[in-house]
Amino acid sequence: MSPVATVTTQPGQRKAPKTGRFNNSVVKKTVMAVSGIIMILYLIAHMIGNLKAFQGAEKFNSYSGWIRTIGEPALPAQTTLWIIRLVLLAAVVLHFWAAISLWRQARRARPVPYATKKRVQQSFASRTVRWGGLILALFIIWHILDLTLGAVNPEGHDSTPYERLVASFSNIPVTAFYVVSMLLLGLHLRHGIFAATQTLGQTNKKRERAVNGLAYVIATVLTVGFLLVPLSVAFGLID
Ligand code: HEM
Repeated sequence: MSPVATVTTQPGQRKAPKTGRFNNSVVKKTVMAVSGIIMILYLIAHMIGNLKAFQGAEKFNSYSGWIRTIGEPALPAQTTLWIIRLVLLAAVVLHFWAAISLWRQARRARPVPYATKKRVQQSFASRTVRWGGLILALFIIWHILDLTLGAVNPEGHDSTPYERLVASFSNIPVTAFYVVSMLLLGLHLRHGIFAATQTLGQTNKKRERAVNGLAYVIATVLTVGFLLVPLSVAFGLID
């Protein structure tokens, strides 16, 4: 007869947390992964759009105008742009909410810090992902005030998108802020894409290396693609 294990809870002993398949943290990680994928799709389109700056002011400005007219005349002016903005805003808010909530959950689960400060399995990217995410949130606010609204741009609001772009990156501290933000974005994406594939069921060890490689490729292409325009303006290749 096989032995039967009897589990008894001692007085004062805490019950083990529930580990159902769809527990809270799985839902939050899925929210992070799906909102992250939405933002990556936007970033790919945005990066390709930015590269129009190499085709000159006219092409860049007409591209910026086209974004505002997608769907016209079937749809009222700027409808598509506002749908994109609202979806993006929802993705940013949900991503941020899930990140903070998972972080607080992890802290509650371990109120006493580890005895050793050595973070054995954490990569540089995963360590920087939290404060990097915060800096990226500040970057997005600055970026919209700078290039969309012109509120903090030397050319102001009554200017073309191309004029704002050149004015912004002709300023070395601003370009430096963009460069640091884009490098943090690269680290964030590398870590995030890998984590998302794990959350969404990519657990096959054999494919893990391939997924990791793909995460590096997407992160590198986006980082380099985004850096090209600010650096080209700063070095006088675009003016
Ligand atoms: C250095 C790289 C980047 C450059 C040169 C750049 C350039 C621009 C420009 C020129 C605009 C204004 C477009 C227009 O008014 O027609 C814009 C808007 C915007 N960018 Fe970027 N961008 C960069 C990186 C990013 C990144 C990394 C993000 C997100 C994390 C981002 C998010 C946005 C958003 C949300 C808008 C506002 C779109 C709108 O509602 O009209 N950008 N960007």
